[in-house]
Amino acid sequence: MKNPSAIIIGSDHAAFPLKERIEQELVRLGFQVEDVGTHGTASCDYPTFGQAVARRVASGEFDRGILLCGTGLGMSMVANRFPGVRAALCSEPLSAALSRRHNDANVLVMGGRMIGEAMALEIVQVWLRTNFEGDRHQRRIGMFDRVPPAAE
Ligand code: RB5
Repeated sequence: MKNPSAIIIGSDHAAFPLKERIEQELVRLGFQVEDVGTHGTASCDYPTFGQAVARRVASGEFDRGILLCGTGLGMSMVANRFPGVRAALCSEPLSAALSRRHNDANVLVMGGRMIGEAMALEIVQVWLRTNFEGDRHQRRIGMFDRVPPAAE
């Protein structure tokens, strides 16, 4: 059975120290954390870990995931290829809150070389405590996977 307080997390080498710090904070906050790696600072390929997280959010096994790489760009590109995944690259708390309120983001992405640890931890906390507003935003995210009619 799915644990609503479980979070799956992954990073490449560029954000490995930040992943470890975020994981520590998530455990402190009472979350159960599934860490798919990477598990050290040796150079590795971010798509491996991005896919490992996104696949398990897309399948419904996890409601929420966190992905980190140097810029966050590669991880968000990978994660958003998975139907049902709405990955949001955030570098400040307002985007993190709005990604939940308006976009029902289910994967938070950050760039470990772009933001400091304190900012990343604040973003994580805001992202986790902010709820989706539904209503017109539900209609809009429902449109993501529908092929639009050709423009006039
Ligand atoms: C690794 O050097 C770097 O390319 C990666 O962490 C990420 O920033 C890719 O988008």
